[in-house]
Amino acid sequence: MTALTQTPAWQALVAHHAEIKDVHLRRLFADDPARAEHFSVEGAGLFLDYSKNRISGETIRLLLRLAEEREVARRREAMFSGEKINTTERRAVLHVALRAPRGTTIEVDGVDVVPEVHKVLDAMADFATRLRSGDFAGHTGKRIRNVVNIGIGGSYLGPDMAYRALRSFSDRSMTFRFVANVDGADFHEATQDLDAAETLFIISSKTFTTLETMTNAATARAWLVGKLGSDAAVAKHFVAVSTNIDGVTKFGIDPTNTFGFWDWVGGRYSMDSAIGLSTMIAVGPENYRALLGGFHAMDEHFRTAPAARNLPLLLGLLTVWYNNFFGAQSYGVMPYAAPLARFPAYLQQLQMESNGKHVDLDGNVVNYETGPIVWGEPGTDSQHSFFQLLHQGTKLVPCDLIGFCQPLSPLTAQHDLLMANLIAQAEALAFGKTEDELKAEGSPDFQRPFRVMQGNRPTNMILAERLDPATLGSLVALYEHSVFTQGAIWGIDSFDQWGVELGKALANRIIPELDHDKQPKLGHDASTNALISRYRRLRG
Ligand code: F6P
Repeated sequence: MTALTQTPAWQALVAHHAEIKDVHLRRLFADDPARAEHFSVEGAGLFLDYSKNRISGETIRLLLRLAEEREVARRREAMFSGEKINTTERRAVLHVALRAPRGTTIEVDGVDVVPEVHKVLDAMADFATRLRSGDFAGHTGKRIRNVVNIGIGGSYLGPDMAYRALRSFSDRSMTFRFVANVDGADFHEATQDLDAAETLFIISSKTFTTLETMTNAATARAWLVGKLGSDAAVAKHFVAVSTNIDGVTKFGIDPTNTFGFWDWVGGRYSMDSAIGLSTMIAVGPENYRALLGGFHAMDEHFRTAPAARNLPLLLGLLTVWYNNFFGAQSYGVMPYAAPLARFPAYLQQLQMESNGKHVDLDGNVVNYETGPIVWGEPGTDSQHSFFQLLHQGTKLVPCDLIGFCQPLSPLTAQHDLLMANLIAQAEALAFGKTEDELKAEGSPDFQRPFRVMQGNRPTNMILAERLDPATLGSLVALYEHSVFTQGAIWGIDSFDQWGVELGKALANRIIPELDHDKQPKLGHDASTNALISRYRRLRG
């Protein structure tokens, strides 16, 4: 394949960027009164207005040509059909199989994986139903009312995000907590007010070897056995979610209380695998199936919608446009929905662990930018913290603004305030305020330069009817496939994460070196040695 920056589409985009980079959104909207219509698409319950981007019809035409030249459609088909596109780990990438309807066929190494997926889903549904009804009770016979998910990264961010997002659909008689950090404060705070007799721990770990999760799982075991006074209690208060069934058995969790998944599910793509057990317990199997339905609807849209009307493809290409041609280092995602508070954190792992890569699929160091930084906070809070920089700073930060037309709370009048702010921010970012407008408003001379808002700051507006399970599934799948599209353009492996390994190995080396009594000899660089020595001294 031709090197990315040498492809005709890339070269054409470089030339096109030089022409369009200074064109203002005010001009683009003035030139095309139907621009909003021309640059909006709908699919799988989501509406995307991308008209407030610094693009023309030609930009989209060239970006779609780039997608063709980089064979995004062929790579997408390779993913959907179970090819081992995670080449550095020689694995298929089949999170789409997790939400494939019963009866669909998707093969890995000649084996249809869909029946296995549904077997696990059925087992999860059976367990969730028994737990929610009180049929599955704790060691003392008390009903389980508290669920604590112990896991980190992909085994935590999705469940935590989804629980908060769908809390209004959850069983309010139950308490859900999420422990990830190896900092004991995380476990302590999550459990200190819980009755052990009413508490279930879900140990979620794809590998069942992760230091943080194994440490917290051992702490949980000791906490539970200490409180209930018997090792036998473990069977009724621990379940596991993992691909490593041997590891689970060694830890002492009954294999009948274990929900499996497969090596073709990446950690950051696993919230709809058995990793979603806490979500299913919270919202019930029916809502969970609606969530999967939303994921699947977006999968189908991504696979079958024409390129020019394909939401994830367009979103991914726009990310490439700003990242590689405008030099934007980051993009913001602001959900105008308080329950989506953890959505940006979830996206950080999805985007940055997937596309934070510096070599291409052939192992060559790339000569172009890959994955941008993604960050964000819910609106309207974020308007009162960092939006100043978005409006008047010197950095270009494209933003995705997400809103829902129907409120989840009974405070419907407040929903209008929320949505008015969402729509207003996109307008202000795009069109700003000119010196002349300020003058006409009577703004004093001395203040005017400070009040000018240049505008021309791009946003995508994503709207849906309601933040319900199906919409959440569709929204997550939108970003999964946008990330896929970007990775395909950059020609990188979006499904490995070798970069996190070195830090883990070095931490394992340092753990015994922190021993204050033995004071082991240190052999690091001067700074690391000094930091360890200081810690030993001050920890006491
Ligand atoms: O450290 C990164 C990572 O490997 C993620 O990719 C993963 O989601 C997380 O750790 C947790 O891994 P596990 O589910 O195996 O405990």
